[in-house]
Amino acid sequence: MASYLVTGGAGFIGSHLAEEPDSRASQRTPEVMASYLVTGGAGFIGSHLAEELIRRGHRVRVVDSLITGKRHNLDHLPAAEFVEGDLADPQVAVRAVDGMDYILHQAAIPSVPRSVKDPVTSNRANIDASLNVLVAARDAGVKRVVYAGSSSAYGDTPTLPKREDMPTRPLSPYALQKLVAEQYCQMFTRLYGLETVTIRYFNVFGPRQDPGSPYSGVISLFSTALLEGRQPVIYGDGGQTRDFTYVANVVDGVLRACEAPDASGEVINVATGGRVSLNELLKTMNIIVGTDIGAIYKESRAGDVRDSQADISKAKRLLGYVPIATFEDGLRRTLDWCRTSVVQS
Ligand code: UD1
Repeated sequence: MASYLVTGGAGFIGSHLAEEPDSRASQRTPEVMASYLVTGGAGFIGSHLAEELIRRGHRVRVVDSLITGKRHNLDHLPAAEFVEGDLADPQVAVRAVDGMDYILHQAAIPSVPRSVKDPVTSNRANIDASLNVLVAARDAGVKRVVYAGSSSAYGDTPTLPKREDMPTRPLSPYALQKLVAEQYCQMFTRLYGLETVTIRYFNVFGPRQDPGSPYSGVISLFSTALLEGRQPVIYGDGGQTRDFTYVANVVDGVLRACEAPDASGEVINVATGGRVSLNELLKTMNIIVGTDIGAIYKESRAGDVRDSQADISKAKRLLGYVPIATFEDGLRRTLDWCRTSVVQS
């Protein structure tokens, strides 16, 4: 979250800018108010979805086990109804979907190395819970489920950028679990007529991404290291590349997927369409922070993918999606947020 000064903010154009500094979403026709369940809504991406939905005037319920989510991520959203529960319990899923129009299924244990270390726990969170959500959604007659898929499904297939019709080759339990759940989504669409859309995320980053665990996303770990004057760790030679995607882009893509008429049953990449190596990432972050801190290089991680980059033409075609924030803009906003949270903690 960045800080903006709007000079002349009490005027005609200025007051509009003050109302919405960084989202083009409001330029679209206002939707009728609807009810959204955000599973994993106390997590990083889920809390951003909940925030934007409330800003648009919708009713939001969040269900979260708080295994990786944090209750305080919703402190600024008193309008969100909060249900604490683990969706691996089918009864929790039934209660959570009751009365909802749309389900944004974000709940997961989102880590490649954590899944390598403990595949059973991540299987429960990433597959069992997803199946429970789909069954409950089917029985409750919800309008559409939008599922948080993952670029990890592509694995190390040689061709870049990754298109949705390319073969998958999961390299870790996490990647396999995300792929299984997206195939469950497609199967539920074919078998039961439940509308589902899978959005494959590519290394999402932004404010509220938790840097507090060795399994955290690399940008959150690099941010806190640089701001605290520590050397970050790079696993491997740092030449591996990622399509790092600022969270506002994902929020826009997911909310478009709720209503796009031709998206049901589809798997769609949402990313920026570029790729940046870890060495380049660290260099750019050093420039933004004003530091010159080198990395400590360690052995590559098991299950790690070498290169990842999305083809986003399907998202453009089916969702009208174009990235609303660049990688550099996103980095600046994320580092601004980290500065305030490092100072506060
Ligand atoms: C993967 C998925 C991503 C998913 C994420 C969930 C791919 C291509 N991407 O991300 O879509 O959202 O899992 O967790 O599979 N690294 C360091 N130092 C660190 C931490 C990480 O060098 O301190 C390296 C990792 O080895 C990796 C890269 O940074 O090469 C990115 O790691 P991470 O942020 O954990 O995400 P992925 O595993 O790429």
